[in-house]
Parts: sequence; C-alpha cells; structure tokens
Amino acid sequence: MVKKGVGITITEHIITQQRMNPEATGAFTSLLNELVVAAKIISREVNKAGLVDILGATGKTNVYEEQVQKLDIFAHQVIVNRMKHLGQLWCMASEEDPDLIEIPSQFPKGNYILFFDPLDGSSNIDVNISIGTIFGIYRRPESNSTEPLLSEILQPGIKQVAAGYFIYGSSTIMVYTTGNGTGVHGFTLFPSIGEFLLSHENIRIPEQGRTYSVNEGNYEYWDEKVKEVVDYFKRPDKETGRPYTSRYVGSLVADFHRNLLKGGIFMYPADKKDPKKPEGKLRLMAEANPLAFVVKEAGGYASDGKGAILEIEPQSLHQRVPLFIGSRRDVMMVEAYLSGKIEKPDLKAV
Ligand code: AHG
Ligand code: MN
Ligand code: MN
Repeated sequence: MVKKGVGITITEHIITQQRMNPEATGAFTSLLNELVVAAKIISREVNKAGLVDILGATGKTNVYEEQVQKLDIFAHQVIVNRMKHLGQLWCMASEEDPDLIEIPSQFPKGNYILFFDPLDGSSNIDVNISIGTIFGIYRRPESNSTEPLLSEILQPGIKQVAAGYFIYGSSTIMVYTTGNGTGVHGFTLFPSIGEFLLSHENIRIPEQGRTYSVNEGNYEYWDEKVKEVVDYFKRPDKETGRPYTSRYVGSLVADFHRNLLKGGIFMYPADKKDPKKPEGKLRLMAEANPLAFVVKEAGGYASDGKGAILEIEPQSLHQRVPLFIGSRRDVMMVEAYLSGKIEKPDLKAV
C-alpha cells in the first residue's frame, strides 16, 4: 500500500495507526514523532563520528560498570533533551542513568513512560559496525501519586503501548509497532529529504530460522544445558535444516533486525563470567522488553529460558535477564529444553 513517488512517511503512518487505536490521542503521535527527530540527530552524529571528536571512551563507567562511550552520552542527552519538554511523558528511564529521569518542574507531565537504550552496540561505535537505539513506551498507570513511583514504572513488557528501534548502519532504519495486531513496520531514512519512508511493511519473522547468534567466546561460562542447545544448532541434520549459520556482530539491534527479516535465534544466556552479572548482560526494561514486544507482533517469541520475557514482573530499573529471541519454533524449543519440558534439544518436539 506504499504510495507511488515519495512514499508513506513515518508521520503519516503513525497518524494512520492512531486512527486505528480509538483511545490513542495526538499525544502518542507527537511522542513518537519527537523520538524520530532525536534519532535523526543521533544518526547524523553517528554518520560523521569518524570526523569529529565524538569517538572514544569518556573515561567514565555506567551503572553496569561498563566503559561509557561519548556517543552513548550524546545519544542519551539528545533523547532526554528532546523528550523532557514535550509534555507527553510522566517520566523516562535510560540505560545510561542509574535513576528515573523526572520531567523538570517547568515542563508539563504527560501520561506515557519511555524506557530506552540510547545507543546499543557501543563496542562497535568506532569500528563502523551498525549500532542503534531501542525504546519501549508504557502508559502511566491510574494513580493519584503526584510524582513518579518506581512501583508504577516497573510494569511487565506486555503492558507496552509501543516499542521499536533505530539502526544506524549502511542506512538508518526505524522499526516499530503499537501491538494489538497493528503489525511491525520498517522505515528507511532518506537523507536527501530528511524523512523516514515506509520500506518494510508488515514484517513477519519466519516460523523457524537457519541462523543462530550467540557469543561463543562465553561457551565455558554457560551451564551445561545451554552448551547442549548451541551444539545442537551446529549439528548436521537435513530434516531440521541444521547446521544453522552462525551470525553475531555484537550489536543486539543489528543481530535482532537480521533475524527478524530472515529468521533465526539470538541468544544471550546467563553466564558465570562476571559474578555481578549472573543473569547475563542484557537489560530487561531497555533491551529485552521492547524487542520482545516487536518480535511477538511479528509472529516470533522471546524467552528468558523459563518463560515469556513479556510476562516478567520487573524488580528493578536495570535488572538483567537471559535472552532467547527470534523465530518462534527455535525459541520455543530452547525454552522447552532449558525449562525441562523436553529431555533433549529437539526441533521436532515443538
Ligand atoms: P550496549 O552497547 O547498549 O551496552 O549493548 C551492548 C550489548 C548488545 O548490543 C550486544 O548484543 C551485546 O552487548 C554484546 O555483548 P558481548 O560483547 O558480551 O557479546
Ligand atoms: Mn544495549
Ligand atoms: Mn547502550
């Protein structure tokens, strides 16, 4: 349904979606549109990162004790500065800020809550590999609190009203969904006109993939069942299309996006590498939940190895979670095996 000529812009698409959601108001549309503006600014900086002094580490570490890259902070500040005066947010939470980000008193508050990973794939910033931004949007729950309470903010991922990501790669792409059967849609930024145009309408992830994505360098730190699952995907078997191809670039958004379009399973299991990160490296609120919401709408599934990511009741703002996400059949099989429902990894069992 892409029009001839210029094509459908993201703004038109969001308004069309808004008309499909009776209770959606212009507030949601302006929120998503402002996020698009922030992404355009980040994309421009990423694309000229090699030319200006925005590369390299800040010498600081974040709440996860990870080296913070200048571009992480730049992207974080762009999003906070653009979103705080909009009047649509009750509060925000960023992977780069240990605390809730409150809306300054001089600006009106709104009814939405934004979680985001301002720059995903930081280790790839200065080696010209795709990086991205991930976001999830919730509605503020009914309450007469005058200030944001953590108990209100920490909602299971199934409560998201929208989620998506931007990838700053060979082109800048935005993928988002408002759930409820509205589909997952991709837009490509045309720098010459400064607009995101519909390029991937109604993305559906293949039921089963032929790709697995995992950092095998952590193999010795995984528990035995996880090792067995990864070994299973590598073992030749015509009937189930194995061995799978291994693809892992180290940017979650890039690995996720490739698997969304072509099929496959991305895994970041819990590992014993760092006692401070027993649940693995990825964050529930800023990474796993938004992508779990997208993949579910596209016909896929996301699990922590025991159950659905979207059903997890969050306990803290920055909690980490093991993540198995992508083609439904692959992820369901891994969950069935890791949770003891099947004796051995076996795609024919699901
Ligand atoms: P971030 O840059 O936001 O910290 O995210 C990096 C994450 C994710 O993008 C990627 O899948 C993962 O780190 C790679 O981790 P390893 O280098 O440990 O495989
Ligand atoms: Mn990330
Ligand atoms: Mn990040």
